[in-house]
Amino acid sequence: MRIGVLTGGGDCPGINAVIRAIVLKASGMDADVVGIGDGWAGLLGEAKTVPLDSAAVADILPRGGTILGTSRTNPLKRDGGIEEVLKNLSRLGIDALIAIGGDDTQSVANGLYKRGGKVVGVPKTIDNDLSATDRTFGFSTAVQIATEAIDRLHTTAESHHRSIVVEVMGRHAGWIAMHAGIAGGADYILIPEVPFDIDDVCATVKRGSENRGFSIVVTAEGAKPEGAVVTKQGVRDEFGHVLLGGVADRLARDIEQRTGVETRAVILGHTQRGGSPTAYDRVLATRFGEGAVGLVEKGQWGQMVALRGTDIVSVSLADAIRESKTVDPAFYEMAKAFFG
Ligand code: F6P
Repeated sequence: MRIGVLTGGGDCPGINAVIRAIVLKASGMDADVVGIGDGWAGLLGEAKTVPLDSAAVADILPRGGTILGTSRTNPLKRDGGIEEVLKNLSRLGIDALIAIGGDDTQSVANGLYKRGGKVVGVPKTIDNDLSATDRTFGFSTAVQIATEAIDRLHTTAESHHRSIVVEVMGRHAGWIAMHAGIAGGADYILIPEVPFDIDDVCATVKRGSENRGFSIVVTAEGAKPEGAVVTKQGVRDEFGHVLLGGVADRLARDIEQRTGVETRAVILGHTQRGGSPTAYDRVLATRFGEGAVGLVEKGQWGQMVALRGTDIVSVSLADAIRESKTVDPAFYEMAKAFFG
């Protein structure tokens, strides 16, 4: 049997650990694995492939990014895109495809499955916003990086008696902001799911200045000052997403103007997706990779591996992409008790 593997969407610490697990597990069942370059783009036109054996994955467990490359290419948006993918899979002799990606990648996998493709999914995103799984790998690493950054910003904010607004990733879901904000002892956390009152944020910043001389506000990139997200440019990618970014700059300006407290903005951006995965993400990624090969072995097409409690289970791709997992307002209320 020949198994194809592709990685789509934003890169994410732990992808290489999944690829390694797939290759090592497949070698035990006498299957060979071929990597597809740059996500779905690698199955359109001249397909891009690379053979993957145990030597090729020997050192990749702790490595960030994806050795296969990735893209936000969407075959569903192209005339005959899925047919082209199917044709390439058959030309390459690929009997089963494992798609590692977030909701966008899994929506293409589901489209492929509906047209007869033998495909299974592995959930991947630092945003942790897939409702079908309790956790996605990459999230723990992103939270760790953001928390370390917040710790460092505490000391410089304290020295300069400033407020610092830290922007973390999270388009529609504020998971990174919530976890890093709580772990980093933020004075305020702003997320896309919960509307906020800038007067309340400013009152907290003033209190922080008076009581201990500084404050830290953590905001998700998708938080909405005056009810709308802050975008970098109007262009949308092939999945319809606009590029967000800059909400921290906007908030820092507003806070400084309204409170008179010197305020700086720090945008963590892609730093959160770079570098080596945490031990938690390496283990979860390895379990997902192993589980995905299990689905292939059993011919359970159209399924995605998922974490439920401490177990690896499978869910249908259709269920996996149905709705995104957003922060429960009760969790936000709990966190508010620790605001400054
Ligand atoms: O992978 C999801 C994500 O991390 C979002 O939180 C963020 O908005 C987006 O990727 C940015 O991705 P890029 O700049 O690579 O297109």
